[in-house]
Amino acid sequence: MALRQLGYLLFSSADVAGWQKLAEEVIGLAPADAGGGALYLKMDERDFRIAVVPGTSERLIASGWEVANQAEFEELRESLARNDVTLHQGSQEECTLRKVREFVWFDDPDGNRMEIYWSFVAAFLPFTPPRGIAASFATDAVGLGHVVLPVTDISAAQTFHERMLGFALSDTIKMQFGPGMVDVNFNHCQNIRQHSLALAGMPAPNGCVHFCLEMNSLKEIGMALDRVQDAGHPLVLTLGQHVNDDCISFYFLSPHGFMIEIGYGGVTKDWSRHSVFETTRPSHWGHRFVLNS
Ligand SMILES: [Fe+2]
Repeated sequence: MALRQLGYLLFSSADVAGWQKLAEEVIGLAPADAGGGALYLKMDERDFRIAVVPGTSERLIASGWEVANQAEFEELRESLARNDVTLHQGSQEECTLRKVREFVWFDDPDGNRMEIYWSFVAAFLPFTPPRGIAASFATDAVGLGHVVLPVTDISAAQTFHERMLGFALSDTIKMQFGPGMVDVNFNHCQNIRQHSLALAGMPAPNGCVHFCLEMNSLKEIGMALDRVQDAGHPLVLTLGQHVNDDCISFYFLSPHGFMIEIGYGGVTKDWSRHSVFETTRPSHWGHRFVLNS
């Protein structure tokens, strides 16, 4: 039972055109050929990593988690069913939308929709950044980045995700965020990325505290930071470097209500040598909270 990577994020939006503009002009994601009824945003050889479907609200619908093959998929599905998780089999139409062979979905205890799939479907066309933007992303076998999901009872949520899906704790923090203190648990799956799923004890009405995309150079995130500011999107946290994974990143608020983190240089891990730790500060430097200031 092993999740390999965060394969995709699926959003709904009342402003799909706005999403495309943000992705194409600011972040540097390439809109891919439609087909399946979604805006597909490409950041590597896969057909997409982020899909946005038209809807009435701005929301993360689901995070999509990849297993290696059908045998592992069926093993995990049986394990979830044995543990009384209410499973929903993805229909053919839903598989087509996600460009996967087969998936199941269920809600975690906080209503975060998790989708487990095997066999993504892709043309393996190279990623070409749009509009001459210098952008490339660290993905491949480490997934698209990380997603931070809102939870109410962090210890119950942690137990669920460990026992049901095999996530493993990387590190924890109790940190100041805005006016309050927030517990965050950082979890990894079966790859060398320091965390792919974080659970944060704070509300996020749109279903996502933030998600992070990792670029391949400091120059690229520096240029992305300029594009964010030139486009007038508010920064939430200034450029800084995290303690837990050494990632250099900044956070901004998208017009769709999500915080988006753009990072570079996160550590890669040999999990056989890792011990879980707690950090007492989120960042070596920077990451000053500036929203509304
Ligand atoms: Fe993050």
